[in-house]
Amino acid sequence: MDTKLNFTGKTAIVTGAGGGLGREHALELARRGASVVVNDLGGAVDGSGGSSAAAERVVDEIRQAGGKAIANGSSVTDVKGVEALVKQTLDAFGRVDILINNAGILRDKSFKKMELDDFRFVVDVHLLGSAYCTKAVWPIMLEQNYGRIVMTTSPSGLFGNFGQANYGAAKLGVVGLMNTLKIEGAKNNVRVNALAPVAATRMTERLIPQERLDKLGPQLVTPGVMYLCSEQAPTGVILQAAGGRFNVAEIVENAWLDLSEDCTLESVAANWDKISDLSAAKPRRRVT
Ligand code: NAI
Repeated sequence: MDTKLNFTGKTAIVTGAGGGLGREHALELARRGASVVVNDLGGAVDGSGGSSAAAERVVDEIRQAGGKAIANGSSVTDVKGVEALVKQTLDAFGRVDILINNAGILRDKSFKKMELDDFRFVVDVHLLGSAYCTKAVWPIMLEQNYGRIVMTTSPSGLFGNFGQANYGAAKLGVVGLMNTLKIEGAKNNVRVNALAPVAATRMTERLIPQERLDKLGPQLVTPGVMYLCSEQAPTGVILQAAGGRFNVAEIVENAWLDLSEDCTLESVAANWDKISDLSAAKPRRRVT
């Protein structure tokens, strides 16, 4: 095995790793030598309820396969709980090299019918939860000049999806977080990327038809995430992964059109085709 694709000596925290995608990420990190902290609140898809049993089951699986893991039942929305998660990681394994912000919930409704509490809660888990976990490991990673952080975004955030205004807003929010952290972490070798997965999990079992789900095992996403956690990881990339297929999504821009000599509504309207022509659009230069 290529040593750069091996995680021996590294410690990883995976949030929401009691099932679905997070469980696959945790199992594969452990298979490749990492010590893994399996975090999961253990609630329902809408975030209600909770117990540490889900995380403990994954830890048992890892240990039975000869790997190293511990369980943590904190909610990523609880700042004190997140600090305790990182302390527990350092006490058990002495370091933290990798953070996969994966924990997530859904509270889908059309925006017209959506309660603001459901908007707030979804943003709390996905965006603030990712920020809290990242903030807790950030000084450690800067200090040791090594860190790999994965945000979990979604095609819903990148492109939109009916009934997911709260989720889409939160999921594009983590891309904004990544875009700044890729710059702030660059000189200390802390690389921050985002994953936009599609996978058959309890989250999608009622949203995607069964014949598509059959081809979308979460284990067909995890190899891409492992690359984003590896020594060779890029930084600031949005990796889409679904059913063993991978691509990169980008925010692009076209050339500026200078209307300063005649900056009026009429001139914007008259030039709209040029302003909005994305045929030669490019992403901004990458950090590395
Ligand atoms: P899942 O429901 O199987 O996994 C999410 C896990 O997060 C659950 O085990 C849950 O207990 C845990 N969790 C929820 N709130 C938590 C909290 N406050 N603190 C700690 N853990 C918490 O769903 P899935 O599909 O594996 O989702 C994983 C991530 O991938 C989520 O961020 C989701 O939004 C994202 N995603 C999934 C897609 C898919 O097609 N399955 C599509 C796009 C994004």
